[in-house]
Amino acid sequence: MSETTLNWSQWLIKSRFSYMTEEQKQQTLNWLLSVRDAVLNNAAIRPSDTILDIGTGTGLLGFGAFDYIDESGKVIFSDKFEDCIDSCKQLAKDLNITKPHDFLVSDCCNIKLHSNSINRAVMRSVLVHIFEKQQAFSEIHRVLKPLGVFSAFEPVISSNTRCWELVPENSLSDYNDFKKAEEECMTAQDDPLTNFDETTIAELLKEVGFSQRIIDKQVVESTYTVQSGMVENWLTTPPSPTAKSMKEKFLLYFEEAKVNNYIKELQAALENKPVCIKSNALYIKAVK
Ligand SMILES: C[S@@+](CC[C@H](N)C(=O)[O-])C[C@H]1O[C@@H](n2cnc3c(N)ncnc32)[C@H](O)[C@@H]1O
Repeated sequence: MSETTLNWSQWLIKSRFSYMTEEQKQQTLNWLLSVRDAVLNNAAIRPSDTILDIGTGTGLLGFGAFDYIDESGKVIFSDKFEDCIDSCKQLAKDLNITKPHDFLVSDCCNIKLHSNSINRAVMRSVLVHIFEKQQAFSEIHRVLKPLGVFSAFEPVISSNTRCWELVPENSLSDYNDFKKAEEECMTAQDDPLTNFDETTIAELLKEVGFSQRIIDKQVVESTYTVQSGMVENWLTTPPSPTAKSMKEKFLLYFEEAKVNNYIKELQAALENKPVCIKSNALYIKAVK
């Protein structure tokens, strides 16, 4: 595993922007801020609410939530991994945050909080890393007070544009082999990244007892020109510090020389060409 994928806070700071041009980084940052605002607005936060940011990472939602509360409210930054909580603690200090806040190292499948103790739970791109999604929903439901609101954003990775869709069949020697392998990987049911869609999420929220459930599916599109080395970066950047990159997944199917040749041919077919990458994303709002 490379130095940049040692832990989640480092992954969030370095890897998620790793293959992007400056323009794309700015676009992604703007997009992240718009997602943050939408998740927090959907949560209908009141000034005195206690808000739990689950899987806070470097605090995208938690720090934004301070704009919605006053001295009678509170933000709890929670994450399974201590390095993320340490990073939020440091940022809270640097920003001189004076509104009430707390830090909690906790797995979202076993939240270390009393039942019925929080008003709002917010989450962005965390469920996608959790295999046991029903257990996470059940815990969120347990810690929320009656009529408490859960608001989240999750990408549906299984709906992402496939590499094989971006190029004509005759531009790759092993087009059909890689198309088949990519389809299997992108729909694998034993992988937390790909084992769900909007229907699964709606069913699970209902099963754990949320009385109201609204799932708003949106198409996220990103159009840009493929730069030198970009395909290699797409395929070698892991989606989380512990998950396999697409190249590592392909290596379970094919010899390294064949995978390297595929990357080389894909890069050649796409270099300096515009691509449009699409994905579905879900805005989830559920009331206990
Ligand atoms: C893609 S990051 C999102 C971080 C942050 N919510 C954001 O929007 O920038 C996923 C986060 O989920 C956290 N995470 C992964 N598994 C978790 C679990 N079982 N319980 C709680 N947090 C978890 C990771 O540590 C990481 O901070």
